[in-house]
Amino acid sequence: MDTGTPFASALERAAHHAKVFLEGLDEIPVSAQVTYEELIKRLNRPLVDAGVEPATIIDDLAADVDGGLTISSSGRFFAWVIGGNLPSALAADWLTSAWDQNAGMFAVAPAAAVAEEVAGEWLKELLGLPKTASFAMVTGCQMAHFTCLAVARHALLAKHGWDVEKQGLAGSPPIRILTNDQYHATFELAVRYAGLGTDALVTVESNADGTMVPEALEKVLAESDGPTIVQLQAGDLNTGAYDAFEALIPLAHQHDAWVHVDGAFGLWCAASPMYRHLLKGVKHADSWAADGHKWLNVPFDSGYAFIAHPEPHSASMSIRASYLIHASEARDQVDWNPEWSRRGRGFPTYAAIRELGRDGVRDLIDRCNGHAHALVTRLGQLPNVEVASEPIINQGMVRFLDPKPGATDEDHDAFTDQVIASVTAEGEAFFGGVTWRGMRCMRVSVSSWLTNERDIDRTVAAVKRHLGAASTA
Ligand SMILES: Cc1ncc(COP(=O)(O)O)c(C=O)c1O
Repeated sequence: MDTGTPFASALERAAHHAKVFLEGLDEIPVSAQVTYEELIKRLNRPLVDAGVEPATIIDDLAADVDGGLTISSSGRFFAWVIGGNLPSALAADWLTSAWDQNAGMFAVAPAAAVAEEVAGEWLKELLGLPKTASFAMVTGCQMAHFTCLAVARHALLAKHGWDVEKQGLAGSPPIRILTNDQYHATFELAVRYAGLGTDALVTVESNADGTMVPEALEKVLAESDGPTIVQLQAGDLNTGAYDAFEALIPLAHQHDAWVHVDGAFGLWCAASPMYRHLLKGVKHADSWAADGHKWLNVPFDSGYAFIAHPEPHSASMSIRASYLIHASEARDQVDWNPEWSRRGRGFPTYAAIRELGRDGVRDLIDRCNGHAHALVTRLGQLPNVEVASEPIINQGMVRFLDPKPGATDEDHDAFTDQVIASVTAEGEAFFGGVTWRGMRCMRVSVSSWLTNERDIDRTVAAVKRHLGAASTA
């Protein structure tokens, strides 16, 4: 109902366009269909003196971006690890903007602080993490890594008599960071942001699936008794593989190392009795980074940092200022987060968890994993397709083999990229490529609550069609 106020008319138009977009998800091409030049032509309007009526801007915006959006909420979007939007999370996200809370402190935004506190407790339970862990809701796994590293830096250096918040890092005991060879690029960025420097990264020998070899970790740990961080993986980016937490974490702790776990999407398997065994022992780590905007299907931006040791967590993040009103009972986000002013990003997570409940989260995980397995297996049955990595959770990889006689590995690499590009350009499904163990592969990631069997059928048919066309070209 348009009451005639600027808010009402702009929001009505936004709701209309959102509804048209979301109800058409199944039919519109999954990839953007207009060029950069076209988007610039549409959006690069002259900056004029007089402003424009809000509802008109919303109508113009919807028309201008038409065909220029990647439909990552579609059930046939399998690139990277992105996920869609649950209805309540999306709606709560709209309200978050309408309410425009500065969710830094209880005194500034009481309901935002409490919703976040409650959602944080729910997350710990769903992800199988200690009840006593502290947490921060940040923009994504990237900032979750940073938050965890800032805390690790504080705790490790304090043991060496160094106050990093006061003294900085110049002249401090150097921190080593032991990882497998497949760590996510955002972890490396976090290492840079935390001032630890990429020279601190030491690669520990990995198995073929990217998981760390315990004997190799033990050997590297014994090489120094300086401050050390061990980064482990709960769900490798490409293979979905899990490190052997039960063996690796006690080893690291014997050497007083801090164990950080990248569980951007893989930590969610804790919510499923079928997959929970993959995470055995993970709760003994010191920090964990995960995402909401991937597998929980909440809108961007939503990442979570969890820390087993609340004291160094608040010591590294919190600050006091005379003009602030610090809560005595409630939870102030500023004590745990790297940001000051910030979005009330607890609301969409709160809504998503309520919408799904424990059963719904378990179902989401089981369903996505089942679809990933079916998709990779069925693609692998097509001629000239090789399964490079069979999904153990929701990630897998296939490779397309150039059928021409005498084709080399380079030909197969080029052919794989050609098929990915051709499927994606048409827009029936969206995939990304990766160089894995020296070969080009197509990554398959199923993270959307919307993906169903029909999506898998349509996708297999599309790949078959494009593979056939590329083979006879
Ligand atoms: C394993 C892993 N870690 C970290 C990240 C980074 O997450 P974000 O993009 O939320 O910062 C990703 C994103 O794809 C990921 O797959």
